[in-house]
Amino acid sequence: MKPLVSPYIMQVKPYVAGKPIEELQRELGLSDIIKLASNENPLGTSEKVREVVRKSAERLHIYPDGAAFELKQAICDFHGVQMNEVATGAGSDELLMLAIDTFIDAGASPKDQGVVAEYSFGSYPISLIGHGAEVVTAPGLDGFQVDVDAMIAACGDATKLLFLANPNNPTGTYVSEDKLRKLLVEVPEHVVVVIDEAYHDYIQADDYATALDFRDLRERLIITRTFSKCYGLAGLRVGYAVSTPEITDVMNRIRKPFNTSLVAQEAAIAALADREFVAESVRVNNEGRAQYEKGFAQMKELGLEWVPSQTNFMLVKLPVPGRAVYDAMLALGVILRPMDGYGLPNYLRISIGTQAENARCLRGLKEVIPTLCAQGVDA
Ligand SMILES: Cc1ncc(COP(=O)(O)O)c(C=O)c1O
Repeated sequence: MKPLVSPYIMQVKPYVAGKPIEELQRELGLSDIIKLASNENPLGTSEKVREVVRKSAERLHIYPDGAAFELKQAICDFHGVQMNEVATGAGSDELLMLAIDTFIDAGASPKDQGVVAEYSFGSYPISLIGHGAEVVTAPGLDGFQVDVDAMIAACGDATKLLFLANPNNPTGTYVSEDKLRKLLVEVPEHVVVVIDEAYHDYIQADDYATALDFRDLRERLIITRTFSKCYGLAGLRVGYAVSTPEITDVMNRIRKPFNTSLVAQEAAIAALADREFVAESVRVNNEGRAQYEKGFAQMKELGLEWVPSQTNFMLVKLPVPGRAVYDAMLALGVILRPMDGYGLPNYLRISIGTQAENARCLRGLKEVIPTLCAQGVDA
């Protein structure tokens, strides 16, 4: 019998998402669970958006506007871009996948390539490999810094796409304005550069700049944003991409016509307008980050280290395997994200939650790490 799928499909290691609260409830029978595993907004969703969603519920029987006209108009007003430069998607993940679908030729020989940075978002290699492309990983610098020069050097004739998450998941680090400019100018012009700004709103560094400010530096450029983080709409699945009219046009040719739901479109318009909620989300995140930094500093003698973060999560290095800490924290009802899938077995990623959630996580870590160390569980 002929093989069921092309061999590259079998090379994909499926994405492992953060453990859902309901799953842990089923497994351990716990009732008081917090999830700090998927970088969601601990404030939930803005009340103004919920009100809009309640009204949208009355029109669930009709198809959404496939062109997402009103949402795109709101995005255009917000960023000062044109309608034919914006595409919307079911989360930015769909738009990243759409870029791969559009620009990777699965049958190319030699294989089309996609360049990614070491320790970058796991979705890029999954989607690239799943579309028959070869992944070229540019090694990073100390401290989980992206090496922009290595990314530029990794590009060759077969490179179709380059992905840079700025700031980056799972490290929480960022690329400065100067380096971003360099990348946009020096990556060969045939490559479509995708700058994924899912965590843009959280960044506090003075020398960061959005790639939206540098669209004149490069023609083949896509910038993605999401409503899943600071806007509190991860469950609805909505994001957008800003690019040139030409790139937007080719991506729209294969975009599913109703990829963003009616509720998602209307909620996203309301979310974009509710600047107070975004500001409060950032304030709570800044407070939480400081809370973690203080708590982690107290655990330095336990052998804990952390990577300075510009996002709504912290990457933490442990003196024992991350999996062991993850399991012990699950037993306490705290869901974190193990990093062995990213090749970082001694690390955990912790999403910044409310003050009470962060305090509970820190208390748990202070209890669990010494116990595991005493048991001789080595990193
Ligand atoms: C760097 C990065 N990009 C994109 C996404 C996808 O977000 P969404 O599909 O919810 O917009 C995530 C989600 O965690 C992410 O971390």
